[in-house]
Amino acid sequence: MIQVSTDKHLLGLKGVSSEEIHGILNRAAWWEQYPAKVTSSLQGKFVANMFFENSTRTRFSFEMAQKRLGAQVLNFAAAVSSVQKGESIYDTVRTLESMGIDAGIVRLKPNGVLQQLAEKVKIPLINAGDGNNEHPTQALLDFYTMKKQFGELRGLTVSIIGDIKHSRVARSNLWGLQTVGAKVRFCAPSNMQAPELAEYAPYVTMEEALQADVVMMLRVQLERHEDGLFKSSEEYREQYGLTVERASRMPKHAIIMHPAPVNRNVEIDDELVECDRSKIFSQMSNGVPIRMAVIERALS
Ligand code: CP
Repeated sequence: MIQVSTDKHLLGLKGVSSEEIHGILNRAAWWEQYPAKVTSSLQGKFVANMFFENSTRTRFSFEMAQKRLGAQVLNFAAAVSSVQKGESIYDTVRTLESMGIDAGIVRLKPNGVLQQLAEKVKIPLINAGDGNNEHPTQALLDFYTMKKQFGELRGLTVSIIGDIKHSRVARSNLWGLQTVGAKVRFCAPSNMQAPELAEYAPYVTMEEALQADVVMMLRVQLERHEDGLFKSSEEYREQYGLTVERASRMPKHAIIMHPAPVNRNVEIDDELVECDRSKIFSQMSNGVPIRMAVIERALS
């Protein structure tokens, strides 16, 4: 998928330049420091959140960001819409566009559809997660969290552990982190690996993966699994979970991240979710200024 960095869409991080990524991070830092909770920056603009798949963090932090920027917000949820009568994703987006929205935030199950939509509509679209393809604003808030901790991204080693095969977060992190000069390694059970990504990031053992600046755990995405892929929570935790014992073997300076929602005591022990080195809830806080910067970019 080609990401056109000169237009206003944000469909993915593949192909987005380091300058543009750092520009968004710097603008998010500016918004994080901004003293007023609500501004009139996007007064008179209408933004629609079009979620064809469930969400808590992404959906609400986009809404927080839009309201902080002073935009008018429309929330579309597929479950209570005419999608239930068979209306297509394209017709839904065109419908809202024809009513006069200025930008759309879109989350979808299928891969590839967002690119086609972006080619057909005139308003900027922001990817809020599509299939296992990309989740660019999640990766940007992850980079922001890492940059706040370490000062810079270049030279960091980031281990991404878990259900790589089904993870759009892993892919957006991979593309963006490589662009800004960080090193990515994957660790996953063989049936949750994405072989097509092995040429970009090596698969390493759990022991090797723990030796990193950032240990990013991924949710086991049971809703996307075919039958039989996942045997038991206990077995997964034993082989690929970040247990308290494994975390004790991480370097002292290393941080724990997870995009959430978290399966506690499966991919990460309950005690670690809110421990001192965990940035999981900071990631959620950082999602708001990042999405302010991204929406502003789309509408500026
Ligand atoms: N991290 C993330 O995308 O969470 P939601 O599915 O709740 O938006």
